[in-house]
Amino acid sequence: MALQTSALFSYFKVLPRTAAPLPRVRADFQAAGVKFKHLTPGSPQLGAKPATSPDRGHVTVARRAEKFSAAAAAAALRKSSQGKWGRRGWLGKVALGAALGVSTVAVVQSLHTGTLAAMAHEVNLNSAKGNWKETKDFLLNLSVEKRRHYYKSPKFVQLSEIPAWTPTAGGSEPTLYQRNEKLDQKISIYNGDITTLEIDAIVNAANNTLLGGGGVDGAIHRVAGPMLKKECESLHGCETGEAKITGGYGLPAKYVIHTVGPIVHGRVGEQEKTALRSCYKNSLKTATENAARSVAFPCISTGIYGYPPEQAVHEALATVREYLDAHHDKLDRVIFCVFLPKDKKEYEQNLPLYFPAAPTEAALKSKL
Ligand code: APR
Repeated sequence: MALQTSALFSYFKVLPRTAAPLPRVRADFQAAGVKFKHLTPGSPQLGAKPATSPDRGHVTVARRAEKFSAAAAAAALRKSSQGKWGRRGWLGKVALGAALGVSTVAVVQSLHTGTLAAMAHEVNLNSAKGNWKETKDFLLNLSVEKRRHYYKSPKFVQLSEIPAWTPTAGGSEPTLYQRNEKLDQKISIYNGDITTLEIDAIVNAANNTLLGGGGVDGAIHRVAGPMLKKECESLHGCETGEAKITGGYGLPAKYVIHTVGPIVHGRVGEQEKTALRSCYKNSLKTATENAARSVAFPCISTGIYGYPPEQAVHEALATVREYLDAHHDKLDRVIFCVFLPKDKKEYEQNLPLYFPAAPTEAALKSKL
């Protein structure tokens, strides 16, 4: 509506000061098929009051303006091809511009509203029918409040409910990294189900087909619904260590970043370590490339793929620390989502090594 008003008032604004007295402008508009009942002789001269003056009934004008269609202006231009309405005439140019502006805005707005309304009517995340691209775009264009109507489960956890991890002051073990204040408040440990997190992106520990499986992969596909698999089919799989992004569909997370961890048989070799680090690094890279600023990781590869959790935790923390050192401005929060008590213990025990606390008074004094 505001846009329509301004498009119309751009017309009034360009009226030359010595412009046509009100009756003439009114006659001109009548010729263009517009009825401005409030532009009656005696009412304030156009240009005499700010366009938003209540005397001018800007809401009425706007409502009227919607009727000032491009067709009416074009008809008027055809009817009076000479003089002020002619192509070179000031009124012809401005009126058509205003009309096109107004009616285009009205048309685009009603199309957009109509499409959204139509989409809202059609979106059924429990069915594989429908176009995953349109559904994904529709959901990504909704506000968080509106998107909540489409979550598979009413149970979800907002980012504000997940406390940032504050390192226990001055752990005894020697830290592996210098303290970096820029990383404060950017790390969390969350003990629970990753499919409940209402954040920008959750990472899925997938397999090379990307077509779903057990563990966290199965849980994510169950909550997201069949549209997720349809989009995954379009990705044609994923190499170990790589990461690919899809919509979240029925999940509270906007996106799912699918990565494939290494399978460990027996001992962990350099290849497995490098592959696991690549999962974390490429997932964060994919997140920042898609402006996802809050990301949650499950403990990749430590379930069915057999990576010992007490070793995987070091690859995960080191990679996230190094990525945040280089790109801390692109991420607000990285959440380590631990599902099992043993994983929770591993992360709480090892986080201070990679994200050390501020030195304590005693520690500072001892260095003097
Ligand atoms: N939320 C958070 N973490 C979870 C959840 C959940 N809902 N469900 C399981 N986890 C944890 C597991 O406890 C484990 O710590 O995710 C971690 C990864 O375990 P898996 O899901 O088994 O993943 P991974 O070891 O990487 O094996 C991948 O398993 O699910 C299949 O299709 C997948 O073939 C692939 C393989």
